[in-house]
Amino acid sequence: MRLLVAGGAGFIGSNFIRYMLAKYPDYKIINYDKLTYAGNLENLKDVEENPNYTFVKGDITDLEYLNKVIKKHRITHLISFAAETHVDRSIHGGTKEFVLTNTLGVQMLLDAVRINGIEKMVNVSTDEVYGALRLDEKRKFTEKTPIWPNMPYAAAKAGGDLMCNAYWVTHKTPVIVTHCSNNYGPYQYPEKLIPFFIFKALAGEKLPVYGDGLYIRDWIYVTDHAKALDLLLHKGKPGEVYNIGADNERSNMEVTKLILKFLNKPLSQIEYVEDRPGHDRRYAIDASKILKLGWVPDYPMEKFEQGLRETIVWYQKNTKWVEDLWEKAKQANPHIKVPGEKNGGKK
Ligand SMILES: NC(=O)c1ccc[n+]([C@@H]2O[C@H](COP(=O)([O-])OP(=O)(O)OC[C@H]3O[C@@H](n4cnc5c(N)ncnc54)[C@H](O)[C@@H]3O)[C@@H](O)[C@H]2O)c1
Repeated sequence: MRLLVAGGAGFIGSNFIRYMLAKYPDYKIINYDKLTYAGNLENLKDVEENPNYTFVKGDITDLEYLNKVIKKHRITHLISFAAETHVDRSIHGGTKEFVLTNTLGVQMLLDAVRINGIEKMVNVSTDEVYGALRLDEKRKFTEKTPIWPNMPYAAAKAGGDLMCNAYWVTHKTPVIVTHCSNNYGPYQYPEKLIPFFIFKALAGEKLPVYGDGLYIRDWIYVTDHAKALDLLLHKGKPGEVYNIGADNERSNMEVTKLILKFLNKPLSQIEYVEDRPGHDRRYAIDASKILKLGWVPDYPMEKFEQGLRETIVWYQKNTKWVEDLWEKAKQANPHIKVPGEKNGGKK
């Protein structure tokens, strides 16, 4: 397989590339990434000398360049992680960037697949496209749940998903769409809940919990997601949608308390802050379809605490990765507040 991974320098993409290089010594992987603020080549420092790995800086909305790279590297398969992913950013400005990459970018990838006769594409999407579930219902999202997103990030992702369906029906473009739940694990950009709260807790600062904290997310360890995508690249049926989730519903408050407990920090570090507009109450994934295909997560619900502990230890151990990341974040945005830093000096 000669696989183009779009958006491979981000959190999930980099974990996926590492997983695939280790498992398939005869596959070639081309990481095609624009390197936005969230793209970080340090995530793949340990594999950059691997002869099966090549990095190419590029934007998925640039079809001409995409075609050149696909031809040059004789790409047979494509998977895309490339997206603007931070929900808060999609609400508080920059929504256009979300539509450009998450919707138009997917359409460009589909054209590239069609033009170059690529055998299969996997478009990595999110359960957030389904909208929200209620706390007082047992229902979970299935692949048949209607798409009805509530915030701009999810709407832009849904646009890409619908384009995949349209290209499959209209052109028979061989594409699979996945809807995965919230990921946790190493190499996640620290604007996202788990790494952000780990850094805040370690710095002795308040952990800002939105609203009443009773928002449910269905957490999956990032390499379990990578495993599922590997299976779909090989055995998934083009034209189909697959949900991915480890049946692990937790409230944000429960996750926050676990982080504080594992770091021996007091609950008084929790601070309730004004809720996010359009905040979805609950996400829960029915993953029976991919489980039937043979996917077995290594971190099911009963191993969540172990996965979270391992994640915390990883962020504690990889201090250089963390420091470099904050340095880069500060260069991109001098006003960014780095946990542990006050008035320019470390606490
Ligand atoms: N993080 C989660 O919990 C989660 C859950 C379900 C689905 N997803 C989906 O998985 C994918 C990866 O998420 P992540 O958390 O790793 O995101 P991330 O923000 O860490 O990484 C996104 C990557 O895409 C790259 N990128 C952005 N725009 C691009 C463009 N126009 N062209 C090429 N590259 C571009 C960035 O440089 C970055 O490397 C996204 O599509 C996201 O919607 C994420």
